[in-house]
Amino acid sequence: MLEKYQELLAPIYGFLHCETPQSWLDEATKPENLHTVLLDHLVCELKAAQSAMLLIRKYAVDPESTQALLSWLKPFEDFTYRKQGDWRTLAEHSRLNKSMVPRGDKPFSQSLIDKMVLLIKEELHHFYQVLEIIHDLGYEYEYVSSSRYAKGMLSHTKNHEPDAFIDKLICGAYIEARSCERFAKLAPLVDERLGEFYISLLRSEARHYQDYLTLAEDIAGCDISERIDYFGKVEAQLISSPDEDFKFHSGVPVDALSSVAI
Ligand SMILES: [Fe+2]
Ligand SMILES: [Fe+2]
Repeated sequence: MLEKYQELLAPIYGFLHCETPQSWLDEATKPENLHTVLLDHLVCELKAAQSAMLLIRKYAVDPESTQALLSWLKPFEDFTYRKQGDWRTLAEHSRLNKSMVPRGDKPFSQSLIDKMVLLIKEELHHFYQVLEIIHDLGYEYEYVSSSRYAKGMLSHTKNHEPDAFIDKLICGAYIEARSCERFAKLAPLVDERLGEFYISLLRSEARHYQDYLTLAEDIAGCDISERIDYFGKVEAQLISSPDEDFKFHSGVPVDALSSVAI
């Protein structure tokens, strides 16, 4: 079922420095871990929307647009962090009703806003879709803390501009690319409905990866391949080293390591 996505996946495999380890796939497809995989996936969708929003707030929109952006995410954050509101009403909130005003001082503001507003809209739609699956499978929603993955990468970003901005965009590209790779690997291993859902996510996650990378290259205006390579190594290290906290973006499950040692 993945044949027609090979063209879309090839650049992603070329970009990532390692493939997801088999031991992570074995862990992720254990029935007892499905609830965790879904809950963490849900929070990852919100985090993806939040990170994109932080970037446009910090680098692209005028202060008046900020309020509209904050209220866009609020119902999703209220539900996720405070268990407030009925999840079914969230479908109505995935659109932004106000157009964003770019800051005049940055030539890339409009392109950043266009790409990121579409990305946020899609992540919020994915968030709702994951909630629907959680509900249909009879699971309860509960908050799960984030894994070490995104923090681990972002801890390597520089703290002076514009390098900090470019580093964050590169990290965004890796997070999206890894998610896409994991959805593609999981799809044939899980039940049909979930597999079809994962496949339906591939196209937008692949575009998100490409958008982040293009923005990083355009804004840098020079060759950033060394920096991309640097983050590729950091990312691969997080994916291929032991990780006690099993999550959607975690490394090699520690249980798997101990059973090999025995
Ligand atoms: Fe997503
Ligand atoms: Fe995404």
